Amino acid sequence: MIVTIDGPAGAGKSTVARMLAERLGFDFLDTGAMYRCVVLQGSRQEVDWEDDDALGAIARELQLKFDKGSVLLDGEDVSAEIRTPEVTALIHHGADNLQVREAMVALQRRLADGKSVVTEGRDQGTVAFPDSQCKFFLSASAEERAKRRVEQMRQTGKEVSLDEVLQLQNRRDQQDESREVGGLRAAEDALHVITDGMRPFEVVEHLERLVRMRM
Ligand code: C5P
Repeated sequence: MIVTIDGPAGAGKSTVARMLAERLGFDFLDTGAMYRCVVLQGSRQEVDWEDDDALGAIARELQLKFDKGSVLLDGEDVSAEIRTPEVTALIHHGADNLQVREAMVALQRRLADGKSVVTEGRDQGTVAFPDSQCKFFLSASAEERAKRRVEQMRQTGKEVSLDEVLQLQNRRDQQDESREVGGLRAAEDALHVITDGMRPFEVVEHLERLVRMRM
């Protein structure tokens, strides 16, 4: 069984998808981490961002592993590095590149093959797994999402202003929504869940009930 969770940045997808996978005994796929690794590798190899083929080749050759919540690139734990603002600012180069998207969708399908999986991203219910029996579209107001991000950063010792986060978030929402292939949109058969005012465990319990009804 494939459970897809799509939605904008900061909607709480990663936390919720990880917890849901654990409760269901499913594998968890963090597809945002995949795009982040492509861009990190591109940056390390000083790729020409205008050269679609070069970044496409990096994506096809990517040696990526998920190990107990860590992301390993060429065997190195890059879980923290892929989430830096520098990588986030470059992410559109990977996400807008059709060769990269094709390679990532192929990788996602390979990783899910023969397994029960909770997968989260932007295009999981629409492009990667359109036949999934259980699709969710998780969202929250822009303000609430930005507040959560500020709190998350604070917990890792970084102080950022709400305005700054909101501005970057709006830009990323706009980039994600306007992408023609693999853009952020809800599948027609997705269940919409608005998470404003909900704690992660409440969202997980709600989703778990819905998944179990379909199992
Ligand atoms: O979810 P996360 O913030 O880690 O994703 C980083 C970026 O990767 C997103 O803003 C989006 O541009 C891109 N992405 C994507 N398709 C996915 C997952 C992420 O285009 N399935």
